[in-house]
Amino acid sequence: MPLITMKQIMADSLKKALDPSVDTKERYAVGAFNFSTIPEMVGIVEGAREVKSPVILMLSLGALKYIGSLELVAYTARGIARQYPEVPFCLHLDHATDLEMIKQAVVAGFTNVMIDASQEPYEDNVRKSKEIADFAHKHSPLGLNGCSVEAELGMLAGHEDNIHVSEEDAGKAYTDPELVADFVEKTGIDALAVAIGTAHGFYKAAPKIRFDLLEEIRRKTDTALVLHGGTGVPEDDFRKCVAMGMSKINVGTGLKKVYTDAVREAIKSLPESEYDPRKIVGPGRKAIAAEIASKSELFNCAGKAEAVLKSMY
Ligand code: G3H
Ligand code: ZN
Repeated sequence: MPLITMKQIMADSLKKALDPSVDTKERYAVGAFNFSTIPEMVGIVEGAREVKSPVILMLSLGALKYIGSLELVAYTARGIARQYPEVPFCLHLDHATDLEMIKQAVVAGFTNVMIDASQEPYEDNVRKSKEIADFAHKHSPLGLNGCSVEAELGMLAGHEDNIHVSEEDAGKAYTDPELVADFVEKTGIDALAVAIGTAHGFYKAAPKIRFDLLEEIRRKTDTALVLHGGTGVPEDDFRKCVAMGMSKINVGTGLKKVYTDAVREAIKSLPESEYDPRKIVGPGRKAIAAEIASKSELFNCAGKAEAVLKSMY
């Protein structure tokens, strides 16, 4: 069953991240990519298939508003799973804040949900994240623990649909390593998004990642760690994050640009008499696949599909 939870998809990566005897070159993070159309979903999975990589498909609230239905996305993911059985992938609801809507995503068949209460006071973040973890672990139609949960501690600068954080506020809100163990234990979540200097959207200047914080956070918990704001992060910083035990890396904005650039090029190169949308959207889907293949190599998760599937049995 290639449509699996994020906990399952990250299990092998996490094991390697936590084992000090593992060569850091063996470590890898699973790439997680935002989509807002079906061709993008398929392109992401095709890119992963090309390099035998696991992959995470992320639906943002903006994309959900555009598509209009959690069920439509969940059923499409099940269809993709039948079409591409060799690709282990996860369907993730990204940066969600409305508890009832997150529960609907669990019931619809999402295999991971993110509750983002990171802008709220710590105790509220704990309470909401726990409520979602308890619900998701019991109510997935895919069975007990058929849906895992990501939550966030600290805040990232930038815009992510309904969440806007100024650079000034984010600068004051890196993840506090002293809260990490307490947060994970009280909530029962499966993955923790950390604020260590990345931001959502394109950077004006290269981000300054707080590797010191990452090191401390990694020591404080054995839950999987997630890096948000992957667009524009220098390649060496990605490699360092992976070597230090990051298990999931999110990329959104950059992928949108890859898709749109390819579509724009296709339109430019076609005669006005051409009206077949497949000739316009098709190159976008191909460009997405190529980008996913290349990011999977960069995150060192290319070739790890089999290891992920084996770790489940
Ligand atoms: O949750 C989504 C990501 O953090 C995407 O960030 O748009 O900066 O790549 P990005
Ligand atoms: Zn994010």
